[in-house]
Amino acid sequence: MNSNDLIDKKVDSLLNLMTLEEKVGQMNLYNGFWDVTGPVPQEGSAEQKYEHLKKGWVGAMLSVRGVEQVREVQKVAVEESRLGIPLIFGFDVIHGYKTLSPIPLAESCSWDLEAIEKSARVAAIEASSVGLNWTFAPMVDISRDARWGRVMEGAGEDPFLGSQIAKARVKGFQGDDLSANNTLAATAKHFAAYGFIEAGREYNSVDIGTSTLYNTVLPPFKAAVDANVRSVMNSFNEINGIPVTASKFLQRDILKGKWNFNGFVVSDWASIWELINWGHAKDKREAAKLASTAGSDMDMEGYVYIEELVKLVNDGTVKESIVDDAVKRILRLKYELGLFDDPYKYCDETREKSTLYHKDHQEAALDIAKKSIVLLKNENNLLPLKKEGQKIALIGALASEKNSPLGSWRIASDDNTAVSVLEGMKQYKGNSLTYEKGVDLTIGKTHFVEEVVINETDKSDFPKAIEAAKDADVVVMVLGEHGFQSGEARSRTQIDLPGLQQELLEEVYKANKNIVLVLNNGRPLAIEWADKHIPAIVEAWQLGSQTGNAVAQVLYGDYNPSGKLTMTFPRNVGQVPIYYNYKSTGRPINREGNVFWSHYIDSERTPLYAFGHGLSYTTFEYSNFKINGKTFNINDTVEISVDVTNSGNYDGKEVVQLYIRDLFGSITRPVRELKGFELIELKKGETKTIQFKLDKSLLGFYNNEGEFIVEAGDFKVFVGGSSMTTLEKSFELTE
Ligand code: NOJ
Repeated sequence: MNSNDLIDKKVDSLLNLMTLEEKVGQMNLYNGFWDVTGPVPQEGSAEQKYEHLKKGWVGAMLSVRGVEQVREVQKVAVEESRLGIPLIFGFDVIHGYKTLSPIPLAESCSWDLEAIEKSARVAAIEASSVGLNWTFAPMVDISRDARWGRVMEGAGEDPFLGSQIAKARVKGFQGDDLSANNTLAATAKHFAAYGFIEAGREYNSVDIGTSTLYNTVLPPFKAAVDANVRSVMNSFNEINGIPVTASKFLQRDILKGKWNFNGFVVSDWASIWELINWGHAKDKREAAKLASTAGSDMDMEGYVYIEELVKLVNDGTVKESIVDDAVKRILRLKYELGLFDDPYKYCDETREKSTLYHKDHQEAALDIAKKSIVLLKNENNLLPLKKEGQKIALIGALASEKNSPLGSWRIASDDNTAVSVLEGMKQYKGNSLTYEKGVDLTIGKTHFVEEVVINETDKSDFPKAIEAAKDADVVVMVLGEHGFQSGEARSRTQIDLPGLQQELLEEVYKANKNIVLVLNNGRPLAIEWADKHIPAIVEAWQLGSQTGNAVAQVLYGDYNPSGKLTMTFPRNVGQVPIYYNYKSTGRPINREGNVFWSHYIDSERTPLYAFGHGLSYTTFEYSNFKINGKTFNINDTVEISVDVTNSGNYDGKEVVQLYIRDLFGSITRPVRELKGFELIELKKGETKTIQFKLDKSLLGFYNNEGEFIVEAGDFKVFVGGSSMTTLEKSFELTE
């Protein structure tokens, strides 16, 4: 008997011993043992949670963490409940636990799958050392809308890259052995289409066509399932008038049906209860019926299953087999995690002490932080900075921030633990460095659950910054968003530099034009003025614990930037949603000055910085672009090769990208689609030949019935260092 069958057998025997109440209890996920003020009125009290735990009515806990606390709670479940079924301990370990890597959007810009996997691995090692064994990550939502605060949590706008990153993250969290005490079960979230909420407004409806659903939204989830992700979290939005939590189509037909997913679906926070607010279920009873039937297996802090499901089964409204199926999935993970062998296997104080903020983790965080930085612009090679004899003025409240660079999902980490840019720059002692904040970005304390208050009035520190700039050889300005301006419930209608920062930038520019703008942000920003005037722009996102060191090493050229954008930067918010893989329209070009073509009358239609864009201190040249034929059968493999030469003055890395365009399709195809990439390292003067292969799986697409098809016809292939590359060739695919 293989280990899966063995587990199934154990699950079945345990299920036979369970009462209906105990089964429904396993479908229940509680947040900690404190009374929360969340979206659900009359949430359970700490007392009630304890009572339920003793009865074996809790399947998993969220936010209970730290070896001592986890052990204490696990003990109640194991020793005081009738069957002693151990709990799973979950938490939002999104980009680290104590040591923080860059926000996931930033990490995706590294295009470095190994480093991304390593980052998730480090997160798992730290988080598992405090007793956790389940993370609510990776977030694999594709999004094209920079207004949405949660774009910081994903891998950008592209389903191909997003799928590779989803796999890497699942592998990093789960490792090769889920039962090892340093791995976490991963969760692909939010299933599905949350990234397409209307107008970028948090928790809103989604209205997308089937083609977008199948070709853009679902592929990264499918990739995560293929990588054996053990749970999937459903999303807050509705689709086609059905809130996802109640969507049988998504959860049963696609996820558990077509894809054969054998893990479990956890609701998002109270999303089962929210079926009432959506106007889909009239009360908790109906919400429980709809969600359980649709395939939501576990109720996170919704108090709906625990209150209603037993009654629903007893009166025959919900089949007991639905409950059984959900419970089997949950129990299976508990066996896979090894919790039945040792419920305290993640509880080791010595390991906890020696693991958190470990030096190796800081090193890994620094490594991926450098790789995540994208050089957007570098006129006259203003960067890298000279290491000696320069007067540098460092300006911006974010430059001295030790909290904001940790990002939004950093609830377990300690405040003010990031290396600030100021601290990073101070390591370079050959120059004189003056720091002026110029203007405060925020007012008062910033917090995960509270609105950030932005300074819109106080400019009293402008003059000092302008003075410092006048006197400097180079001005480095660190501007952007506070870490709590992106993330959940942080939608924006303006995506420019918030507060008075734009004004400060323009005032400083009047005093000294030699400015390097370092952006700290959790989403693409509309910075058209800066692009027009500022000679050098560095996208440094929120880079986690090692932010300042990474930024300083890039500015001084100790690391040659290699990141490429994974989300398009618009010129203005009116262009959003904007993305590289758009459809042609019937009127794609301007014919002889005629107005009737697909454009804006008050803005360019092109992006400010395209998907895949990112500069280096060196230059790369592409030559010898070849395809091994002109006509191929649908079952053939198309082979493509190109030479890439480092033609500049520094060793460097390049992300070689391959795009296709399927010129005519029964479902119209995007003007470009990423279908391959390779991150390469080239010494100056060095040339490498890069090879790509395109087969059926890359040349096809999903039709509106959700079937994957490949159609004969004409294709174009593009290679280069960004989605705007003009190097193209053609081939034909025949039946
Ligand atoms: C709500 C968020 O949408 C989800 O991503 C997160 O995992 C849960 N809260 C738990 O914190």
